[in-house]
Amino acid sequence: MTQSPAVAAPRYTKQTVTRQTVWATEKLFSLTVTRPHSFKFVPGQFARLGLALDPTAPDTPNEWRAYSMVSAPNENELEFYSVVVPDGKFSPPLAQLRVGDALWINNSVFGFLTLDAFADGEDLWLLATGTGLSAYLSMLRDPTTFARFKRIILVHGVRYAFELAYRDELLSLMQQHPGQLTYLPITTREPLTQQLSPSLSPTSLTPARLTTLLSTGELEQRALLRLDPSQARVMLCGNPEMVTEMRSLLSERGFAAGRRGVPGNLAVENYW
Ligand SMILES: Cc1cc2nc3c(=O)[nH]c(=O)nc-3n(C[C@H](O)[C@H](O)[C@H](O)COP(=O)(O)OP(=O)(O)OC[C@H]3O[C@@H](n4cnc5c(N)ncnc54)[C@H](O)[C@@H]3O)c2cc1C
Ligand SMILES: NC(=O)c1ccc[n+]([C@@H]2O[C@H](COP(=O)([O-])OP(=O)(O)OC[C@H]3O[C@@H](n4cnc5c(N)ncnc54)[C@H](OP(=O)(O)O)[C@@H]3O)[C@@H](O)[C@H]2O)c1
Repeated sequence: MTQSPAVAAPRYTKQTVTRQTVWATEKLFSLTVTRPHSFKFVPGQFARLGLALDPTAPDTPNEWRAYSMVSAPNENELEFYSVVVPDGKFSPPLAQLRVGDALWINNSVFGFLTLDAFADGEDLWLLATGTGLSAYLSMLRDPTTFARFKRIILVHGVRYAFELAYRDELLSLMQQHPGQLTYLPITTREPLTQQLSPSLSPTSLTPARLTTLLSTGELEQRALLRLDPSQARVMLCGNPEMVTEMRSLLSERGFAAGRRGVPGNLAVENYW
């Protein structure tokens, strides 16, 4: 009897969009999709999402991009948060997806921006610009993060206040973890208003980049906490120039990524 040639199982599955949330029209949105049964991940990891953009092959994904999981590992569905890059090949059609539409997901997950990168420490600083927030949302939705660190500082840097997506969820998490979680939004192109950010002191409303706030010591003032390399563990996620500049500033202060299995006190992820 001749054996038929083995057919390799596809490295991806077709999932279905179950919810679309627009945070800022034509700029920021989130998608929730069905979750493949065997899809496992650790908060901070990312998936590769696929779209079938060739009209002659509507059921074959031909364009893929990395997206961090926003959802926690125990959620039934997967959530992703995305910017729309106006001339981008992927994010504009991704933003057009509606409930019931298909989205393909690679079977493998990737990335080392996870809490496994760190030895135990007291303070966890999660520093993001733009959609770099995604990876931290998964961590903050996971109770084990709160069991591991005494204090957690989440800094989200954006150009304008309207880009502070997930703000209500973060304020609510802060209320659930009083004294443990600090949510520190920062804007660079307009001041924050006290109305939008009632928990912030008036001095924390001035526009400034994350790098400037770190250099001047104002980041620690706003967080009401010292950035001490012996007890702080720092994550950087988002704009690659921000990551490079912050990494250099932090290395001067004694922060370094882990090497050869030795955990460090700094972990980073570039989004492009
Ligand atoms: C590890 C990893 C995780 C990522 N996770 C996310 C995520 O959770 N959410 C998300 O929106 N994107 C994420 N990205 C970026 C994402 O993969 C795409 O690059 C993005 O959706 C734009 O795709 P595009 O084809 O439209 O534009 P691309 O051709 O991919 O990018 C064009 C240009 O747009 C800018 N750009 C790309 N991504 C961003 C961004 N996220 N924010 C601001 N400017 C950007 C850069 O200048 C880039 O050169 C991640 C990237 C990596 C490497
Ligand atoms: N067409 C448009 O009008 C328009 C408008 C907005 C966004 N977009 C698209 O959206 C993308 C930008 O998205 P985004 O605003 O989420 O991301 P972003 O450009 O990375 O900006 C996010 C935040 O990071 C800050 N930042 C940038 N570089 C930094 C650095 N080296 N050090 C410290 N902080 C730094 C920015 O400050 P600064 O404000 O000081 O840069 C901003 O507050 C672009 O790729 C563009 O395609 C388009």
